[in-house]
Amino acid sequence: MNIVVTGGAGFIGSNFVHYTLKERPNWHITVLDALTYAGNEENLRGLDPSRFTFVKGDTTDAELVDKLVSENDAVVHYAAESHNDNSLKNPRPFLDSNIIGTYTILEAVRKHGKRLHHISTDEVYGDLELDDPRRFTEQTAYNPSSPYSATKAASDHLVRAWVRSFGVQATISNCSNNYGPYQHVEKFIPRQVTEILEGRRPKLYGKGENVRDWIHTEDHSSAVLTILEKGVSGETYLIGADGEKDNKSVVELILKTMGKNPTDYEHVSDRPGHDMRYAIDSSKLRTELGWKPTFTDFEMGLKDTINWYADNEAWWKPQKEETEQKYSKA
Ligand code: NAD
Ligand code: DAU
Repeated sequence: MNIVVTGGAGFIGSNFVHYTLKERPNWHITVLDALTYAGNEENLRGLDPSRFTFVKGDTTDAELVDKLVSENDAVVHYAAESHNDNSLKNPRPFLDSNIIGTYTILEAVRKHGKRLHHISTDEVYGDLELDDPRRFTEQTAYNPSSPYSATKAASDHLVRAWVRSFGVQATISNCSNNYGPYQHVEKFIPRQVTEILEGRRPKLYGKGENVRDWIHTEDHSSAVLTILEKGVSGETYLIGADGEKDNKSVVELILKTMGKNPTDYEHVSDRPGHDMRYAIDSSKLRTELGWKPTFTDFEMGLKDTINWYADNEAWWKPQKEETEQKYSKA
């Protein structure tokens, strides 16, 4: 298999590239990535050059996308603007990358008859109340809250329309919150870990009651590879690892793991429109395609992630000051 991975220099995309080249020794991957503030070629360091090509470019560049799609068997489409807080300050890049980028990929896979797997998020379903016994399933109605999640919902609808109207061979997955190495320091867990490493206190939005359903990024990668190989065209699969935790507990656990007082954090202004709770029911993926997560011990996965940031200061330091400046202009 020769595949294109869009957004392969970002957090989840780069983890997928490393995982797939390790698990599928005969595959070749071409990464298409615009290297926005969130992309970093360092994330792809050390890969075998005979099995991996990096192309700097934008998913909205129809000519480039057409060429890469024509030369490969399939596309795994991760490239997106991914951070809710940024989408609240400046939504426009989210429309360009997440909607027009996906449209451009769809037109190329339609023209060349190639397979697409589209990466999406559980946020397209909106949020759940804390005491709601339900979890999101593939039947849950779309109800996105932020400009980010609205553009991801739009991209999912485009994929479904191209499958139904033009017979494009595509699958979609909607995953919950990822954690692990190479995540940008703007996101919750890396932000708190690097605040502590820099001698400052973690910052919890509002009361910290909001719940996220955490999954290790390597489990996300194994799920995507399973869907790419065994998924049925036109189907959507939810990816989750039963990892619901409220933000306050996660901050306390980070502090405790790093040898600090677990109550030594600050409450800061809440995110406007902040989704309360996400929770994934991944039964379809488990029963129909036989996938299961392996990183089910959150405390251990979090400890490894904290150690990765402690050991890789040179990787995150250049992003840190710029990120905190953006936050201070809120
Ligand atoms: P990220 O911000 O770390 O990386 C995004 C990557 O896409 C970067 O390398 C960036 O340079 C690239 N990119 C952005 N716009 C581009 C464009 N127009 N053309 C080419 N490249 C472009 O994001 P992430 O957290 O790794 O998320 C990757 C995907 O997974 C996104 O589609 C996101 O919606 C989805 N997702 C993320 C999570 C999560 O917890 N982070 C959970 C579920 C789904
Ligand atoms: O659910 C999947 C989604 O998870 C993905 O689609 C997004 O790309 C990804 O960014 C993530 O979205 P969230 O908004 O849930 O992630 P974030 O890391 O921004 O925040 C996680 C929670 O932590 C959320 O409730 C807000 C809170 N938070 C965040 C930051 C940055 C804080 O309390 N303090 C912070 O400093």
